Amino acid sequence: MADAKKSTGIHIKGIGKYVPEMIATNEDFAKIVDTSDEWITQRTGIKTRHITNGEPTYYIGAQAAKNAIADAGIDVSDIDLIITATVTPDFYTPSTACLIQREIGAIGSMAIDINCACTGFDYGIDMAKRYLQSEDGVDTVLLVASEELSKFVDYTDRSSCILFGDGSAAFVLERQYDTLYSSFLGADGTGAKYLVSRAMRSENAFRTNKEDFDMGMPETKKHYFTQDGREVYKFATKALPNAVEKACEKAGISPDELDAIVPHQANVRIIETAAKNLGVSMDKMVVYIDRYGNTSSASIPIAFCDAVAEGKIKRGDKICLVGFGGGLTYAAVIFEY
Ligand code: ACO
Repeated sequence: MADAKKSTGIHIKGIGKYVPEMIATNEDFAKIVDTSDEWITQRTGIKTRHITNGEPTYYIGAQAAKNAIADAGIDVSDIDLIITATVTPDFYTPSTACLIQREIGAIGSMAIDINCACTGFDYGIDMAKRYLQSEDGVDTVLLVASEELSKFVDYTDRSSCILFGDGSAAFVLERQYDTLYSSFLGADGTGAKYLVSRAMRSENAFRTNKEDFDMGMPETKKHYFTQDGREVYKFATKALPNAVEKACEKAGISPDELDAIVPHQANVRIIETAAKNLGVSMDKMVVYIDRYGNTSSASIPIAFCDAVAEGKIKRGDKICLVGFGGGLTYAAVIFEY
């Protein structure tokens, strides 16, 4: 294999996470739907998930942001751009990024939300990298992924309610010259119908057509999340290893040269299949799904934070963050921590 390609990339100056205090165990779910700890553990790898007791998405995100800012040792006035990845905003407007900005006091920075479901953090890193690379007034980026998935979970649907948890994580990013960086991002909108949470229907005052426009999407109960678990599973087991391989090719390294792969934490079986398809050992895969369940865009950075705290990821390590999710979207980014 040729030497790893060096270019302008990112320096992760600080990291932080936040999960709400309240924990729901598999046994707690067995009290509200027809399920068991055994089924959930075997089919998903999940044991517990943190769920808010009313704390909204922006608040959860701001706590992680404050932790990352403290870890980076920067002043909030240094932040030029806040990117927030979320599929569970509290409002259509204002954006979650603006609310986090207000909460942490970084007034004057740019602030924008992105919605790429569970790949949001990867997309956010790549956006941040491109802003930083342009050297046009953005030197420090605060990237936050924050999710309150419990607000779009149907707690009567046993096949989906057991999967999700709430939480957030944030990185403070700066420009780094002559470093390892590559990304492979994409989407396949033909799979849009497989992961759905519906927004408001049009009820404008002039509407005479009472028929719903056929959007080719499944009917859902209110805004509740619905998925075709098997289709998503099939998609994920292909998209995940493919994204890692493509990002590795661009970086000029092979997957086994990575020190750690941090995958989206949706189902441990998806991660095991991906590791097998990539020909890498499960030791390289960072997995904390047992603790947090699926926290959508926050799952990758939460797992990253725990891996750093527990010494599984160290400075200088070659890391791949890889996600798949609603859209359908997929993304992998590779960098040196
Ligand atoms: N407890 C007990 N039984 C259950 C449960 C439960 N919680 N949920 C489903 N079952 C039953 C089903 O009813 C079915 O019973 P039947 O055979 O009598 O009909 C049986 O278990 C098997 O159901 P499947 O849906 O085939 O189970 P599967 O092994 O596929 O696991 C799962 C389901 C966990 C959802 C899996 O398909 C999966 O993980 N898919 C990927 C989901 C995913 O990654 N989503 C990402 C969302 S990310 C985002 O963008 C928010």
